[in-house]
Amino acid sequence: MIPVILYASETGNAADTAHRIARAFRSHHRRISCQPMNLFPLSSLPHTNLLILVTSTHGRGDPPPTMLPLWNALLRSSLPEDILEDVHFAIFGLGDSSYERFCWAGKMLARRMEGLGGSKMGEPGWGDERSPNGIEDAFLPWLQQTLDLFLPYLPSTSTSPPLSLTELPPPIFSLEPVVSAKNDDFPIDLDRLSISPPPPASSMNGHTRAAPPRVEDSVHGHGSSSTMPDDWVWATLKKNERVTKQGWWQDVREIEIEFEDPKTTPYLPGSICSLQPQSSAEDVDAFLEMSGLEDQADIPMTITALHDEQPLPPHLPPSKTPTTLRSLLTNHLDIRASPRKSFFEWLRRLSPDERERERLDEFIEDPDEIHTYATRPSRTITETLADFRETRLPLSHILEILPSLRRRQFSIASSWEAHPRKVQLLVAMVEYKTNLKIPRKGLCSSWLAGLTIGTRIPIHIASPTLFLPPNPETPVIFVGPGTGVAPMRAFIEVRVRQGAASNTAVYFGCRSKSSDCFYASEWEMYMEKGVKVEIAASRDQEEKIYVQHLIKRDKERIKEWIVDREGSVYISGSSNAMPREVREAIAWCISTEGAGDLSEEESKAYVEKMFEDKRGGEESW
Ligand SMILES: Cc1cc2nc3c(=O)[nH]c(=O)nc-3n(C[C@H](O)[C@H](O)[C@H](O)COP(=O)(O)OP(=O)(O)OC[C@H]3O[C@@H](n4cnc5c(N)ncnc54)[C@H](O)[C@@H]3O)c2cc1C
Ligand SMILES: Cc1cc2nc3c(=O)[nH]c(=O)nc-3n(C[C@H](O)[C@H](O)[C@H](O)COP(=O)(O)O)c2cc1C
Repeated sequence: MIPVILYASETGNAADTAHRIARAFRSHHRRISCQPMNLFPLSSLPHTNLLILVTSTHGRGDPPPTMLPLWNALLRSSLPEDILEDVHFAIFGLGDSSYERFCWAGKMLARRMEGLGGSKMGEPGWGDERSPNGIEDAFLPWLQQTLDLFLPYLPSTSTSPPLSLTELPPPIFSLEPVVSAKNDDFPIDLDRLSISPPPPASSMNGHTRAAPPRVEDSVHGHGSSSTMPDDWVWATLKKNERVTKQGWWQDVREIEIEFEDPKTTPYLPGSICSLQPQSSAEDVDAFLEMSGLEDQADIPMTITALHDEQPLPPHLPPSKTPTTLRSLLTNHLDIRASPRKSFFEWLRRLSPDERERERLDEFIEDPDEIHTYATRPSRTITETLADFRETRLPLSHILEILPSLRRRQFSIASSWEAHPRKVQLLVAMVEYKTNLKIPRKGLCSSWLAGLTIGTRIPIHIASPTLFLPPNPETPVIFVGPGTGVAPMRAFIEVRVRQGAASNTAVYFGCRSKSSDCFYASEWEMYMEKGVKVEIAASRDQEEKIYVQHLIKRDKERIKEWIVDREGSVYISGSSNAMPREVREAIAWCISTEGAGDLSEEESKAYVEKMFEDKRGGEESW
């Protein structure tokens, strides 16, 4: 019997936790498989006797998108009530208790698994980022409990004692040079591969080099989809234009991308576009130097999974597809990520230096040390390697050590009807100074900023989570400060075409009407058509005015549209206090304090129910 770990992760924490669990089992010489939830064949679930589920929670208690296929399948009412009677499962959820629905996705999943006959192995673990030691407080005891419960059922593959935390486990994937030029196993003529190292940075006169293309694509021909997941498509960058005033503190871009395939299926308003960023050539060079792997960078290599039960993770090129370390570091592995505990555990296994080991032990024992050293100053993996100069990352384990270069999601700001075959995005460039005053740039936004018009990029379109009411007579209130206005703009385009302008209101927030008022000319046009457009320019006057203030000011309309006419509300933007404050402002409007006749409690419950019934929607990031 081989247990299976299934994880659903959005920003990588649950994936990292799942791999830590797998490593713990392997250290005890047990075979185990660790896979993303969305890639697991659902028909195999009822026959998976030992299952470990790991998921985070996002949005307002929502599952990460990669949990959805499994989750939707489990919700089918036609499923026999005992379909999972042979499944024994343990579950660990990751969350943050400052959110109302703490670890909600994990809790819902556990309940449904049990409802379908699954048996829980031990108590679930709910990891809380707000806990003094972060998720470790719940994770470490949960892991011990899970090992104690599972190990007796699993045959050991060795008579040796378990590996200690400081011993290097055998690799589970291999990354090895391609030896034969062409044979049946490997049907690609290596001579035709365009694998050449980029020019040295010193020859670039300070200009940023374009990242090299994916070597895998050069093998299969320009524009091939062979290494791209099936649901990604090629598109061309058509516009990359700053829309904030020159000199303004923030650079926000309007990005327009055109689908290459003229037969592309139209997307719905509110859909999400994912982009796969690349690391810059400079970052890759720095990593290669720090890790001592420069001489391996441009050698054609292939990746192989070394155990039948453990498939290659989806972020890596498929086996037998030639690649290079440089291409992997550019396109697949994240060298700019802030190191997690698991990275320090790897360094501890690898460091030959006593003083480094002592420091690494401190990190492993005290999550606060990692927070101060790595998380707060956004220190990157490459910078960490620079501090641990004696430690070298072996090629044999690098695919396990480095996290995946994750895609970034963007709300689509356009509707298909108004911009056929095109996707428009509103992207804020992430630029900030750390507590150590080191300037930082966001990986995806800075990659996007450097792309020239005409560049071909793979994109993925995901279905919306927010939907317009079918009846154009139903009033809709959109609240989208900053780049949160993106999906709202797409919805408004559709509402105006539906003849619903007079039943549509938008509350947009910026700092100054003259500097960061996105779509300024469109707002005037929409107002002429009857849309109620309210702009909270927070810093254009002495006192700060935000969208929630304008909502309260319009209490009569809010009460009439929401309570009397059963309208909908959509909120989008930054996940800090804004969405909660907007919900509170709406509750205030419909209460006796505002323009309604509900008590404070009743009005809060009313708004909560609206969101549950999908008359309200929120998309925050
Ligand atoms: C459903 C959804 C829709 C989205 N839609 C949009 C959209 O329409 N437009 C848009 O611009 N973004 C949108 N985002 C966010 C987007 O996906 C990226 O997270 C964002 O562009 C940053 O990515 P990056 O790779 O440039 O930055 P990263 O390299 O991922 O860096 C971001 C990280 O930097 C750190 N950081 C950033 N600022 C600071 C600071 N001031 N101080 C300290 N640390 C800081 C934080 O840890 C943050 O998580 C959306 C996200 C989701 C989930
Ligand atoms: C936009 C956003 C929304 C979140 N919503 C919730 C939530 O509703 N409940 C919760 O317990 N945690 C919530 N979290 C916290 C995440 O679950 C937590 O950061 C987790 O470690 C992320 O794991 P991942 O990287 O595997 O996705 C949210 C985090 C973000 C960024």
